[in-house]
Amino acid sequence: ESGYDFVVVANRLAVNRVTNEDGTTGWQRSPGGLVTALAPIMATSEGAWVGWHGAPDETLEPFDHEGMHLHPVPLSDEELENYYEGFSNGTLWPLYHDVIARPLFHRHWWDAYRKVNQRFAEAAAKVAARGATVWVQDYQLQLVPQMLRDLREDVKIGFFNHIPFPPPGLFAQLPWRHSVMKGLLGADLIGFQRESDARNFQRAVRYRLGHYIKADQVYVPLDSETAAPLEGFTADPARGTAPRQLSSPESGTFRLSEAKAFPISIDTDRIVELSNDPKIIARAAQIRAELGNPETIFLGVDRLDYTKGIRHRLKAYEELLQEGKLEVGKHTMVQIASPSREGVESYQVLRDEIELTVGRINGEYDTMGHTAVRYLHHSYPVEEMVALYLAADVMLVTALRDGMNLVAKEYVAARKSGTGVLVLSEFTGAADQLRQALLINPHDIDELKAAMVQATALDPEDEKKRMRSLRRQVVSHNVKRWAEDFLARLDQL
Ligand code: G6P
Repeated sequence: ESGYDFVVVANRLAVNRVTNEDGTTGWQRSPGGLVTALAPIMATSEGAWVGWHGAPDETLEPFDHEGMHLHPVPLSDEELENYYEGFSNGTLWPLYHDVIARPLFHRHWWDAYRKVNQRFAEAAAKVAARGATVWVQDYQLQLVPQMLRDLREDVKIGFFNHIPFPPPGLFAQLPWRHSVMKGLLGADLIGFQRESDARNFQRAVRYRLGHYIKADQVYVPLDSETAAPLEGFTADPARGTAPRQLSSPESGTFRLSEAKAFPISIDTDRIVELSNDPKIIARAAQIRAELGNPETIFLGVDRLDYTKGIRHRLKAYEELLQEGKLEVGKHTMVQIASPSREGVESYQVLRDEIELTVGRINGEYDTMGHTAVRYLHHSYPVEEMVALYLAADVMLVTALRDGMNLVAKEYVAARKSGTGVLVLSEFTGAADQLRQALLINPHDIDELKAAMVQATALDPEDEKKRMRSLRRQVVSHNVKRWAEDFLARLDQL
């Protein structure tokens, strides 16, 4: 029998197209932690990766790259607009991030989301061997687990949600909430970043579908004839159809689905290795020199996204300059804002606001020789990122909501010297693990300002003690372990 024993399904394929110097194009493995963690598993277990290859309106044959079997899923221009920019990033992304931006509920976006999810499910069903393990990734593909189960009852299905799962009261706004929950419940194991995300999902399922839940196990009632999932409170007619009435495991046929937290991490070894590289260490010194060797470099590294709290960070910094508590020449801020989702209007609006603010701050506080904010709207290779982490005295992670935030973990991994201060928003998944950071509420500008000032003058002993404890956490929980933990649990179920 043909097919692959391990299949990853993600919106993006594990490779990016690159243009070589001679103008020809090729593929390069994506730098992200997910690919790093899964590539070795793919190589040893005959794995395939199903995902979109990044170019609209283009169909590609399956191909191999560095031991990975890649199965491109095509998306038309219109699907890109409605499924990706629309439903994924105009509806789900803001809704799941506590409605920091207003989610838009357009029915034609939902239609495209369903249709594209079905295409991914069919692609996965086609390549999976009998009894294979299929691991579906993230909010763009929440319907795939059940769609895949309908096509292939022999496969094991895992799902991991990389972003937050909202409180039931917010999730309830989604006109298609039932379909999304049922889509997810097609998986044997549903992974979330934080305990609170897993609980939010469980509560939504309990309130809205009436399913019985015990010790992270959701009892999904099935039609005894067709084995199709039923809504809990209609599973047992004798118990009535009133909402919120839980169907108990005694009342029929069930399938179990587990919802549980598996906090993701980074390829710690790789970051540590780079942070020891003499070329990168030299580059860090060069960056400091280019910035005029200030006493303190504050660093922010984010996709240019409204969830990241970049405006709050700039506001705090601007006020500190205004009040003379920070001073250009002695202090500076580097903000890397990598371009992201530029077709989505809320991202265009955000970019305008940030660039206006940076321009205002620099216009007011720059000197001939020194800048207040060095703003870079680019993405950089990991080598340059590690050089920046080494150069930065204070890392500012001020997200208003973030599933995990891997920048915080990368900064910690890079600081082998034991110096450096992490200012970290409590609204990130990382805050559950990085307890020795200076934890802040980014909405509280005064608290953020106080933490920034505190960071410039932390007692060196305290600084090292905190960093040592943070490093222990990050070094012992790398992304490889995350993938192994998830897959081991899936295997047990
Ligand atoms: C977040 C999401 C990922 C997504 C990434 C980049 O980390 O959880 O699923 O791939 O952002 O966003 P993009 O829209 O460019 O894929």
